[in-house]
Amino acid sequence: MKTMNYNKASLNGTIQVPGDKSISHRSVMFGAIAQGVTTVEGFLLGEDCLSTIDCFRKLGVQIDVDGNNVRIESVGIDAWREPAEVLYTGNSGTTTRLMLGILAGTNLHTVMTGDASIGKRPMRRVADPLRLMGAQIAGRDQGQFTPLAIQGTKLQAIDYTMPVASAQVKSAILLAGLRAEGTTIVRESETSRDHTERMLRQFGAQVDVTEGVVSFKGGQVLTGTHVKVPGDISSAAFFLVAGAIAPDSEIVMTNVGVNETRAGIIDVLREMEADMDVVIDDEQAAEPTATVTIRTSSLKGTTIGGAIIPRLIDEIPILALLATQANGQTIIRDAEELKVKETNRIDAVVAELKKLGADIEATDDGMIINGPTQLHGGSLKSYGDHRIGMMAAIAALITDGEVELDDAECIAVSYPTFFEHIETLVKK
Ligand code: S3P
Repeated sequence: MKTMNYNKASLNGTIQVPGDKSISHRSVMFGAIAQGVTTVEGFLLGEDCLSTIDCFRKLGVQIDVDGNNVRIESVGIDAWREPAEVLYTGNSGTTTRLMLGILAGTNLHTVMTGDASIGKRPMRRVADPLRLMGAQIAGRDQGQFTPLAIQGTKLQAIDYTMPVASAQVKSAILLAGLRAEGTTIVRESETSRDHTERMLRQFGAQVDVTEGVVSFKGGQVLTGTHVKVPGDISSAAFFLVAGAIAPDSEIVMTNVGVNETRAGIIDVLREMEADMDVVIDDEQAAEPTATVTIRTSSLKGTTIGGAIIPRLIDEIPILALLATQANGQTIIRDAEELKVKETNRIDAVVAELKKLGADIEATDDGMIINGPTQLHGGSLKSYGDHRIGMMAAIAALITDGEVELDDAECIAVSYPTFFEHIETLVKK
């Protein structure tokens, strides 16, 4: 139990948010697949990414961690060894789903499982297209749930139209496509994060991307390289909202990843008239970064739906809190995917913000929030979900009473220094 009593403090100062979770996972996966040495700087030492490292160590890949620098040495997939132990993916959907794509085309038998939350998350969205490629995957409910057993085999390329916008599904298919015979094509109606496509190029592969169609020839060999991981915009999101809603505040965040396919929250903050500056460092970088400054803002409600949803899917819990402080109504729609995240994030956000007195209702595909509302203290749950836990802590900054949070430890999944950063900004 964590008790938070911030007395409506103002937040001032500069922070550097930790490395991007999606890119950190991929840097280790690609380093393990590639031939040669891969060095990573700015790696996120969150529990999810450590699960990815642990899985590859069990496959015999040499991985050394020194602070936020990681070195991976591999001679490629064919040199991996069949693990005697189960690969444990913890709370990480990205590890579980992308590993499924990677392992399907090896010549190894592997078993993967995760924590209780992973045990409830749908895996057939990945297993089904992989089976079309010839993959042999077994698991509870026809491969829907972990534990999953994978018998690696030869794969054939497919031309696949994705029923849901999901970078995890797209990436699993592309990674399986590396080992498949022929050209793998993935079609998405709404663009999901493209870190896999960018990283394939960084590691020397050729990938074609045109208007929602990614195509990629199997059998390409990846070569080790250097990966610079930007700060995670999904972590910065919590302080973007904190700076906008706390009184007399100004927060500067350096090295924030602003890849277009991830930066939907910047568009929403602008639309809501937040007082914010975004200064891009290097547009040409493999993953562009920016310095972002946010100040206490007078906000207006908005509608968030359609093609922007995959560009901010992980930011919706904290955007819901932001909307409680905006003038007028905010509607979030087309976001059914929130129901199959670490927890059902529509139900969790609505239940917890209601406890603080917010005017918020769940809908089938999102939520409707009316603001502004003075939030009160209360006793909140994180549901073991890092992003719900951080939303609760940021809410505590502006409540007129104490907020208790049942399980704040889960925040270490993506942002181990989260509370230190709050302290740094509150103290100034
Ligand atoms: C991720 C993709 C998204 C996101 C998750 C990370 C990734 O999931 O919510 O936190 O790294 O590819 P979906 O692909 O299920 O939308």
